[in-house]
Amino acid sequence: MCGIIGYSGDQDSIPIIIEGLRTLEYRGYDSAGISVCTEEGIKTVKTQGRLTVLEDKLKENPELGGGCAIGHTRWATHGEPSDTNSHPHSAKNLTLVHNGIIENYAEIAEMLKGAGYTFESETDTERGAKLIDLLYEKYQDPIVAISKATKIIRGSYALGVIFNDIPDTIFAIRKDSPLIVAKGEDGCFIASDIPAILKHTKQYYRLAEGIIAKVSKSEVEFFDMEKNLTEQQLETVDWDVEQAQKGGFPHFMIKEIHEEPEALRKTLEPRIRDGLPYFDIPRLDGDFLSKFGSIHIVACGTAMHAGLIGKAIIERIARIPVNVEIASEFRYRNPILKKNDLVLLISQSGETADTLAALRLAKAQGVYTLAIVNVIGSSVAREAEDVMYTRAGPEIAVASTKAYSVQCSLLYLLAVKLAVLNKTMSEDEARDFCARMLTDIPKTVTSALEMSTKICEAASRLVAAEHLFYIGRDMDCQLCTEASLKLKEISYIHSEAYAAGELKHGTISLVTDGTPVIALTTVGKVCEKTISGIREVKSRGAYVVSICSEELAAKYDIPCDEQIIIPHIDEILSVFPAICILQLLAYHVSAQKGLDVDKPRNLAKSVTVE
Ligand code: G6P
Repeated sequence: MCGIIGYSGDQDSIPIIIEGLRTLEYRGYDSAGISVCTEEGIKTVKTQGRLTVLEDKLKENPELGGGCAIGHTRWATHGEPSDTNSHPHSAKNLTLVHNGIIENYAEIAEMLKGAGYTFESETDTERGAKLIDLLYEKYQDPIVAISKATKIIRGSYALGVIFNDIPDTIFAIRKDSPLIVAKGEDGCFIASDIPAILKHTKQYYRLAEGIIAKVSKSEVEFFDMEKNLTEQQLETVDWDVEQAQKGGFPHFMIKEIHEEPEALRKTLEPRIRDGLPYFDIPRLDGDFLSKFGSIHIVACGTAMHAGLIGKAIIERIARIPVNVEIASEFRYRNPILKKNDLVLLISQSGETADTLAALRLAKAQGVYTLAIVNVIGSSVAREAEDVMYTRAGPEIAVASTKAYSVQCSLLYLLAVKLAVLNKTMSEDEARDFCARMLTDIPKTVTSALEMSTKICEAASRLVAAEHLFYIGRDMDCQLCTEASLKLKEISYIHSEAYAAGELKHGTISLVTDGTPVIALTTVGKVCEKTISGIREVKSRGAYVVSICSEELAAKYDIPCDEQIIIPHIDEILSVFPAICILQLLAYHVSAQKGLDVDKPRNLAKSVTVE
């Protein structure tokens, strides 16, 4: 959460910073600010509200210009969104931007008060800025001051600092919050994420923890905490500016849903060799995985929902017990982990604070950790013992879509691998399964995308709803949890995912005349049971939208007010076209309500705080 960009070079920094912040707004967008090194010292403009409000404010200060600047887009943690709480924050000698949480800010504030400091904002960040200032007064050295401050600070941070008396230089450090450093042709950068610098260069350094970057107009240097010069590894991005832009779609979310067939192909193709799952990780491609008696899938949000699908498929075809855990719960409940347990972390960003903490906890207990991650080189990817990358490309919309689909696809492949090892599936069956995944999943997801008009019409009948239900059984029930989250987060319609058989134990009292109920039926063995649940809500006046597989729609007369038929695919693979339809439904409801689809209120894409 919170986006940071800094630039030092000969170009006018303001448009560069604004453009960079625009690509980072997904990280937070309740306020924004910029500080520029000018001939008269550091000048700051910051404001509550979106980036456009900052741009308007900058127009009132046309004289502001310079070749070095830092910018920030905020997702409030300490202190409400306000002009004063916005970043950058200044002290006598410096100005800085921060992403993360300084947990011991109150303690630091007490210490600073004793030294005569006062505070304007409610933020932890201002306390951090003044702590570095105090140490700079004492040591007169930026690297020493930052290094000593970070020994005092507890919590997470990515910091970009500019000092009044060190022109055109940005100092940066991070812990548990991402930060990259890059050198372009026209200057050098720091940023929270790659899209912010992509227009200028495809090469970057992922700043290691405990290393201070010194970024000037023409060079970047790295120092360890003892101020020794050190090296960082240069990396190259394998995607380009177009992939990080909307490409003609009105929103990133719809663009990203349309990228699903390609993302699935890119994730699956290299992972199937000689017809069988192949992870290109030596021990995983052997029989190493056969030694695990049970699996804990740990993740947050949509990634956790992908884990629910993982549990369903692994237990169904490999008969290995799987627990799915919310990372923020797992990390504090002293989980019972055994040596032959596998902890599987799932994360699009690879930077989610709770998922990272869960990973560290499992490692500390000597348990093998495997991660499914989208962002190459991210913290979870680096710290897990093995990592399988999903190949979704950049996902910008806060509501995760293509990342979920590819996470599910890798979980399917893992299930097949485990099933072969566990001898619940023969190699021939596995080959057949993989072949069908490879051809049928991208094909039917493409067909689902072609149903956009019909889905849009169904959405128009949901926009006025205040609350609704998603119901299903078995795998459909797990899919409903993600469908419901998608709708809630972007349309602000309260919705609940319910096991169709459980409604009658209480929740059905909420169903009245016209309550929309979206009923998912793709699992043959429980279809009749789900139909009973549908009848129960229908007879209480529900408006039922049936989303049904082609096969089951032909077999059963599902009581409903309208029906969307999922393109034909084997029942076990129907998750993929089904979720595409459900994502499209949520998207169209939000778009028809005229909401900010890509940046829903109160949310952020990358949650790097607890
Ligand atoms: C945030 C996002 C969700 C995402 C979750 C986990 O809450 O808004 O879309 O599913 O974090 O993120 P991760 O990057 O770990 O998958």
